[in-house]
Amino acid sequence: MHIDRYERLFMYAAVALLAVFMLALAVSSFAYGIRVPRPYERVDPRTVATPPSPWGLPEAERLRELSPGKYEVYILGQMWQFTPKTITIPRGSEVTFYVTSRDIQHGFKLQDTNINFMVVPGEVSKLTATFDTPGTFNFICHEYCGTLHHTMFGQLVVEE
Ligand code: CUA
Repeated sequence: MHIDRYERLFMYAAVALLAVFMLALAVSSFAYGIRVPRPYERVDPRTVATPPSPWGLPEAERLRELSPGKYEVYILGQMWQFTPKTITIPRGSEVTFYVTSRDIQHGFKLQDTNINFMVVPGEVSKLTATFDTPGTFNFICHEYCGTLHHTMFGQLVVEE
C-alpha cells in the first residue's frame, strides 16, 4: 500500500504525540501522585436527608462551631434549592463545607472564591476555606438541573 511521505510523517507524529501524553500521564500519576478528585465519602441519597444523617438535621443545626473560629456546615442540594439557604459566620472563620445531593446532579460555586465543585447524589464533596472579607457571597448551582435551575442559590454572610 502506498502512503504519501507527508501523510506517513503525520502518522508518526501523531503516534509520537500519543506516546508523550502517555508518558506525561504516567509521570504525573506515579512520580507526583496526582489523582482524579474523589468523593470525600459515599452516602445513600435515599436516606441522606433523614436523621441521624447530618444533612437530615434542622437547618439551624447544620452549621456547627467545632472550636472558636472553626466551623463545619452540611449543605444539601435538591431541585431547586440548597439547605441551609443562608449561612452566617464571623469574619476570619474557617469553614469546612460538606455538600451532597438527594436527587440529581447539581453544582456549587461560591462567588469571589475558587470554591467550585460538583454536587453528585451518593457522594460528598468537601472543601475548607477561610473567610477574611466581610460581605454577602452567593453560592449558586452551576449544573443545569431543570426548569428552576436559575433559582437555586444560597448565601454565605461573613459578618464583621
Ligand atoms: Cu441545581 Cu442547577
